[in-house]
Formats: sequence, structure tokens, C-alpha cells
Amino acid sequence: MKRFYIETFGCQMNVHDSEKVIGTLEQRGYVQVQSPEEADLILYNTCSIRDKAEQKVFQRLNENRRARGKIFGVLGCVAQQEGERIFEKAPHVNLVVGSASYPRLAELLVQIEQGGRRVTGLSLDTDSTFETPVTRRDNPYRAYITIIEGCDKDCAYCVVPFTRGRERSRRSESVLEEARTLAGMGYTEIQLLGQNVNSYRDPSDPARTFAPLLEAVAQVPGIRRVRFTTSHPRDFGRDIVEVIDRNETICNMVHLPVQSGSTRVLERMQRQYTRDQYMQRIEWLKNTRRKISLSTDIIVGFPGETEEDFEQTLRLLDEVEYDQVFSFKYSPRPNTPALLLDGQVPEEEKSRRLMILQEKQRSIQLRRNTAQIGSVQEVLVEGYNSSTGQWIGRTTENRVLNFVTRPRADGSQPSREEMFGRYLPVRVTRAGPNSLAGECAIAV
Ligand code: SAH
Ligand code: SF4
Ligand code: F3S
Repeated sequence: MKRFYIETFGCQMNVHDSEKVIGTLEQRGYVQVQSPEEADLILYNTCSIRDKAEQKVFQRLNENRRARGKIFGVLGCVAQQEGERIFEKAPHVNLVVGSASYPRLAELLVQIEQGGRRVTGLSLDTDSTFETPVTRRDNPYRAYITIIEGCDKDCAYCVVPFTRGRERSRRSESVLEEARTLAGMGYTEIQLLGQNVNSYRDPSDPARTFAPLLEAVAQVPGIRRVRFTTSHPRDFGRDIVEVIDRNETICNMVHLPVQSGSTRVLERMQRQYTRDQYMQRIEWLKNTRRKISLSTDIIVGFPGETEEDFEQTLRLLDEVEYDQVFSFKYSPRPNTPALLLDGQVPEEEKSRRLMILQEKQRSIQLRRNTAQIGSVQEVLVEGYNSSTGQWIGRTTENRVLNFVTRPRADGSQPSREEMFGRYLPVRVTRAGPNSLAGECAIAV
């Protein structure tokens, strides 16, 4: 028996890639274990989006550099970015594979099994996507489906075009087949994935863009919730807003990364839209019949960002009123054009801006979440917190809503089997900046 351990860093694309890698390994007779000590093969699926993320994998490799008789593999974005340099930095590594080479993973494993010492899969030329017949999914209700891989935008700060290669869309028919199969297996929530889902184009029929694909997935019988991530504002067309508005199964939420509220900074970032163009998309989303919750990503301290630019970002937060903001200090990354820009912002200044921004957003979220008190919202029950005695649910807007059930006449409690995976109405009674609390509105 061959035992493997895998740890995943980074975005949902990586999480889902790991699910597929696990499927491929299990198909070859490997068994997953929960600690590196028990494993013969140790894999790290890595992220290189910011320097901190990249450092994590080298820390891990350093921690177990003395382990004997084990095979180490580095997968994902650091693998693609650093390539064979990883063997120099961590000589006990045997396998380095970027995500564009996962379709060859089984073949690379054979080389490892035959005693290969330094096996690599680093080509970015492949135009195939990573489709595997056996995918092990970690969540029993929500399933990820990749619709497009790679990224053709060249944002000045970003490593993704280097680590994941050019854009490649999957055929719509293949996506829909997977959605139907998942619905048949009992999954009710689907999340469509890609670095830039809006530039999706069916390779066998370029007229089939993202909006019709989204609508077709939303109409698969049995699917109750569809989410998608990530959207690039430039390619986010009105047709997508219309599809969301007329299909109730598409969740009331859109993640639309703005990065900065200043047109000058956006231009330096090569984002290909202005503040006004971004705000026009927000207008479309605010004028739908259903209320749509908005979230975004922001980078503070991009080279050349002045105090006035930063204040424009703060004003944008007030104007849009997001329900969630993922904010980061600019981190200089290898190969990216932003390295050559002047006006690098000192670390302390980046930290100061980040704190101000996060403080502002926290109060916006608290205010918006407090306004939910008294409403009844449908949640998908995903967990139970035994220390607080609350069930953990998620609303269509992707908010966590912790709740209790009404006491039963006989004093018994509903079991986890009864509750997990159910959709229930919950009345909101309390709110914090990051979550809501409530009580189930019906007897269970
Ligand atoms: N494809 C997605 C984003 C992927 S990366 C998109 O275009 O929106 C997720 C987020 O990480 C980005 O939106 C950005 O806010 C942040 N990020 C990317 N590169 C970064 C860098 N060099 N420094 C700091 N944050 C970065
Ligand atoms: Fe990176 Fe820009 Fe592509 Fe997003 S759209 S992955 S930020 S290059
Ligand atoms: Fe990180 Fe690669 Fe995703 S760099 S954010 S794991 S695409």
C-alpha cells in the first residue's frame, strides 16, 4: 500500500485541483493519510500569489528535510514559478509539477515509482484542461467545477499568468455533463471556477460565452445554488447580470475584484477599466430585482499609490458597501512588470493603509449585518459547533449564519445526519461584522 499526504495552499482553484490530484492518486492505488509522518509520498499544492504564501511551502519543506525514505512533491503555482530551482532550495524534493501538467500526473507518478529522483512537469504549452474521471470531493453538498484554466490578463502585479499559463476553456457540454452527474449524486450547490470566468468561451462554439453557460448550469434539475468565481470587471457584461436576475438558483452574490478605487492606480496596474467603468457594473448589479450582495479584493500600497489614491479607494468602499472585502498589502512578485515601477510604498505605510481600510470595512459590515436582524433567510446547513451548541449555515449571500433549533417537546436534539445538507429558514437575531446568529424559523 502506498500512502500519501497532501496539504493545499491558495485559492479554490488549488483546492479543487487537489481534489482531482487525490482522485488520480487513488485510482493508482494510493491511500490518503492525515499526517506526513504516516505517508510515503508527501505533496504540497502551493500558492505564490504573495511572498508570504510562497514562503510557507519552503518552511514546510525545511521542517521535514531530514525525513528518510519519503518522496516529496511540490505541485501548483510555486512549482511552476520556481521550477528546477526547488531542487536546489530543497534537495530532498523529488517531484515538481505545475498545474498545466496535471493531465500528465499519472505518467509522472510512474516515473517516481520507478525510482525517478528528479521528475518534473513544467511545460505551459499544454492546451488541454485537467479533467479526471475520478475526483474525490471534500464537501458532500458543494462541488467545484472548473470551467476555464489560466489567465490572459496581464495585471502588473500578478504571477498567475506565469504560474497557470494561457486561458483554456472547457467545452460547455463537458461542464454540463459534470453538473448533471453531480446533481445525480446529491450535490445541490455548484461553484464554477476560473481565474477569470467572464472570459469563458466554449472552444467548440465561441458564441457560447459565460452567461449562457451559467444559465444552463443554473437550470440543471436538482441544483439549488450556483456560485461562480472570479469575475474580472472588464469582461463582466450586462448579459451576466440579466442571467443572475432571472435565475433564482444563482446565488445573490457577486465577487468583483476592484483592486483600487483610483483610475490612475488601475491604469498602472494594467487592469483595463476605470473607476467609472467599474462603478457602472456596480450600478447594473444594484438595479436588479433581487438584492445582490457584493464582495471584492483590494491591494493597498501598489507602487505609486498616493494618499489621495488611497482615499479614493476608501470612498469607493462607502459608495459600494460591500458585504466582504479581501484586502492585501502589495507584494512584489517575480517576473511581474510592477517590479520595474517607481514609487514603491514603504512596508509600514502599507500596513497603516491596510489597517485603516480594514477598520472602515469592518464598520460597514457590522452596519449591514445588523440591518439583517429580524429577517428570515434560507441556509444550507454545513456544520455543528459543539462548543456553542449552534448549527453552522450559509446563506445564499455566502454569509455564515450560526443558529439554534427550537426545543422539541420530548427534549431531544436533531442529529447531524438529519441536519447536514438541509436547506432551512432561519430568523436572524444577532449580528457581528463577520457572521450572523439566529434561530431556525420552523420546527425540526
Ligand atoms: N483572478 C482573480 C484574482 C486572483 S488572485 C482576479 O483577477 O480577480 C486574488 C487576489 O490576490 C487578487 O484579486 C489581488 O487582490 C490579490 N493579489 C494578486 N497579486 C498580488 C500581489 N502581488 N500583491 C498583493 N495582492 C495580490
Ligand atoms: Fe491575476 Fe489579473 Fe489574471 Fe486575476 S485577472 S489572475 S489578478 S492577471
Ligand atoms: Fe495562489 Fe496559484 Fe491560486 S498563485 S491564488 S494558488 S492560482
